[in-house]
Amino acid sequence: MLDINHAIESLDWGKEPEGLYAPIAYALASGGKRIRPTLALIASEMFGGKEEEVLPAALALEVFHNFTLLHDDVMDRASVRRGRPTVHVQWDDNTAILSGDQMLIEAYKLIAKVPSDKVQRTLEMFNEMATGICEGQQYDVDFERRDDVRIEEYMKMIELKTSVLLANALRTGGYIAGANEAQQEALYQYGLHIGLAFQIQDDILDVYGDPKTFGKAIGGDICCNKKTFLLLTALHTADATSQAELNEWLRISDRNEEKIAAVTAIYDRLGVRKAGEQAMEEHTSFALQQLNQLPQNQATDRLRALAEKLATRNK
Ligand code: IPE
Ligand code: IPE
Ligand code: MG
Ligand code: MG
Ligand code: MG
Repeated sequence: MLDINHAIESLDWGKEPEGLYAPIAYALASGGKRIRPTLALIASEMFGGKEEEVLPAALALEVFHNFTLLHDDVMDRASVRRGRPTVHVQWDDNTAILSGDQMLIEAYKLIAKVPSDKVQRTLEMFNEMATGICEGQQYDVDFERRDDVRIEEYMKMIELKTSVLLANALRTGGYIAGANEAQQEALYQYGLHIGLAFQIQDDILDVYGDPKTFGKAIGGDICCNKKTFLLLTALHTADATSQAELNEWLRISDRNEEKIAAVTAIYDRLGVRKAGEQAMEEHTSFALQQLNQLPQNQATDRLRALAEKLATRNK
């Protein structure tokens, strides 16, 4: 299959003013798993699509994803991504905002390059996804200040902030390659559920990951009271003493190192990681079932392998 990193390197961002374009090149050259374009290409391959026809949409999704990360890192005050300082740390918040905006525009320019008879529907799906992500990000921020978030609300929030992008990558790849509506829907559902498992694993790695491989600082979610799968499970399953202890830490906004260690110790004691892994298994298995409705070929096998691999990822 086509080399996505090479295709990304070949994109032309513009040079001047450097303050606008250098951060874009920095973000896109910093690696990452490139899952979203990979999913679009595999879905297209499943239906015998031509790589050059799906490539602009696949790249648009990766550029859009990287745009969300520039803004997300400002919103989450995150200092490290992919093992390097985040754009707002390397430059400043204004840079992350404006270069991020330009990346969003670049993503739309790429969508415009989709085969002309497919542009309108691709754009509709893209817009539905983009709005979903903004809604998810807003819920994520709102939840930081709420102490009554239910696990169902959390699942809806991560579906929006994370899953719809993976799901749409698959649906778009299938659509451009000629998949029918039922097949597009099966691809979408597979994407939604690997996405849910993916975000739960992201929550787990934020606490239990190795910063060297994960590429992000550990404990960021704990510091800003993110209502992650781990925290919600802890709040819902803890005995009165652990619950009081947890609520006390939620009121403390300084003493970060101490807070990370203490909350992690409560998670360990309650075994919430295991609950997260169980939920991931359920969603991975649901995702795998969706694949039975699709053509069975090498691409379908790659999606099976990918679902298993993502469920045990460490970066
Ligand atoms: C990070 O996405 C944002 C989440 C949805 C958790 P990835 O984990 O796919 O990030 P990169 O692109 O591989 O760095
Ligand atoms: C990812 O949520 C959602 C988006 C970036 C849209 P996180 O905030 O958990 O992602 P990371 O952990 O910073 O990559
Ligand atoms: Mg973040
Ligand atoms: Mg975030
Ligand atoms: Mg995270």
